[in-house]
Amino acid sequence: MTESSDTTDNPFFARLWTFLSSHETEEIQRLRTENLAGLSGRVLEVGAGTGTNFAYYPATVTEVVAVEPERRLEPHARAAAEKAPVPVTVSAGTVEKYLGGTDGEPFDAVVCSLVLCSIEDPDTVLRQLFSLLRPGGELRFLEHVGSGGFRGRLQKVADATVWPRMMGNCHTHRDTKASIVGAGFEVDRSRNEPALPAWFPTPVAEYTIGRATKPVAS
Ligand SMILES: C[S@@+](CC[C@H](N)C(=O)[O-])C[C@H]1O[C@@H](n2cnc3c(N)ncnc32)[C@H](O)[C@@H]1O
Repeated sequence: MTESSDTTDNPFFARLWTFLSSHETEEIQRLRTENLAGLSGRVLEVGAGTGTNFAYYPATVTEVVAVEPERRLEPHARAAAEKAPVPVTVSAGTVEKYLGGTDGEPFDAVVCSLVLCSIEDPDTVLRQLFSLLRPGGELRFLEHVGSGGFRGRLQKVADATVWPRMMGNCHTHRDTKASIVGAGFEVDRSRNEPALPAWFPTPVAEYTIGRATKPVAS
């Protein structure tokens, strides 16, 4: 892996994700649809990958600003943006870079899907995303989360060894919901879903999908 502060270059992960994101199961497509349903106004999408979410935005969304740092994925996101049902602008670079350069114009919503596992310091980034939302604005999340028991131990070993290196800095044992709450959001709905059949030998086991809001009085 080579990396500058603004972009990332993980050739193995980028090729794998390009393949996986074009062969998604109906189940993950259903979760993507649910994650974006009911959104409206101006949306920031963090780490858009190949732009898989773009097709699922409802017509009530007036603008999506999508950031994507991986240099082999960002062109796919741009191509997906051209076909999207709503206006999408793709910005090359990390969310950290974007947050450092934005003029602070508030967003109505932030979308994080399968990305908070890969951000170096999700607690800090979530606090900054919280600031960028208008009061009453929402965070939609679809993320894989840490498990207990044997799977949890496997995740810790994977996270300390090869998994982040192979998978674009993905960490499998994060408590993402705790980070969301720690940033000041109120989680008003969420549930966990199995990511793959329980027997499947991968450290990624469960998704959490939900909505968190920035309190109006914050
Ligand atoms: C597993 S992919 C998910 C892509 C997309 N969100 C989706 O749901 O299909 C993880 C994505 O997070 C991106 N990513 C990793 N670190 C990031 C960062 N610091 N800022 C923004 N995106 C990041 C990767 O480049 C990759 O596109």
